[in-house]
Amino acid sequence: MSAARNGARSGAAGSDSYVDPDNRGQRRNVWAAAGDSAGGRTLASFGRRRLPVVGRREYGAYVVISVADSEGPAPDPGQFAMLAAVERWGGGTDERPFLPRAFSVARRHDDGTLDFLLEAVGPGTDRLAELDGGDDVWLLGPLGRGFRPPRDGRRPILVGGGVGLAPLAILQDALGGSTLTLLGFRDAVHAEAATLLNDPRVATDDGSRGHHGLVTELLARELGCDPRTEVYACGPPAMLEAVRTLCAEHGVPAQLALESGMACGYGACFGCVVATKAGYVRLCVDGPVLEAVQLESVE
Ligand code: FES
Repeated sequence: MSAARNGARSGAAGSDSYVDPDNRGQRRNVWAAAGDSAGGRTLASFGRRRLPVVGRREYGAYVVISVADSEGPAPDPGQFAMLAAVERWGGGTDERPFLPRAFSVARRHDDGTLDFLLEAVGPGTDRLAELDGGDDVWLLGPLGRGFRPPRDGRRPILVGGGVGLAPLAILQDALGGSTLTLLGFRDAVHAEAATLLNDPRVATDDGSRGHHGLVTELLARELGCDPRTEVYACGPPAMLEAVRTLCAEHGVPAQLALESGMACGYGACFGCVVATKAGYVRLCVDGPVLEAVQLESVE
C-alpha cells in the first residue's frame, strides 16, 4: 500500500478543528461527523461494495482513478481501502483471481468521489491503473487508523516520497490546504504528481526538478529553523527511517504511514504485522499510521 474526513474523532490530543477546502473555508472537524466510528477511526460499512469508476487521469508515472462513493463513510486522512477490478481481475491461464490491493485514499470530493493514486508495478496495479469511466471496482473501506491532528498547537509539515504522497493530499485538504509540504521523487516525470498537492517543495534524485537530493534534506532545514512542528510522512521505508531519525534528533513528534503487504485489510490474516517497541502490531488495524516513537526503526 502506498496507502485520508468525516468520521471518528481522533483520540489524539490537540486541535480538532480544520478548514475543509471543499467547504470553502467553513471550519469543521473532519474526523467527527458522518459515519460509524470506534476507537478513533471511521469504520467501513459491512462488506465490499461495487462502485463505478468515474474518472482516470495521468500524472507522469502515476494514474489517479476516481470512484463514485456518495453513500460510503467518509474516510479519515490516512485510512485506506482494498480495491479490486470487477472485470478481468485474475492472472494465468486459469485466471486465478488476484487478491485485492490496498491503497490510501488520496482525496475525497464534496460529492463523495474518492481518488486513488496508483503506480503500475505488477499485474494487479497494472489492471487497476487501466480502469476508466464505465468500469466498476469492488471497494472495502475505509480501513485502518489514520493520522491524528497536530498536538499542542504544533505546525504540521507533510513529507512524502513517490506514490506515498497519496494520503498527504487528503490530509493537506483537512488541514486547510496551505500546510508546508515536502515531496521527493526519482525525476521530473514522477514529480508531475506533485500537482496533486497545494504548493509543495519538490526534491528529485536526479535534480531534474526542484532540489537536487533527498526530500529529507529539505526537512532537516525546516526542523533546524522551527522545532515546534509535527511531521506527517508517507513514503518508502528508507525515507521514513530518515524522517524518524531526524525527528528524534530534534525532539519533534512524527506520524508515519507505513506500507506492508495486505491480504485481507481487516485483521484476519496477520500478513501485515510490523515490529514495534511494544511487540508486533497488525498494520491494517493498528496502522497504517503509527507514531514514530513506537518504532525502533522503519525497515
Ligand atoms: Fe490481514 Fe492485516 S492485512 S491482518
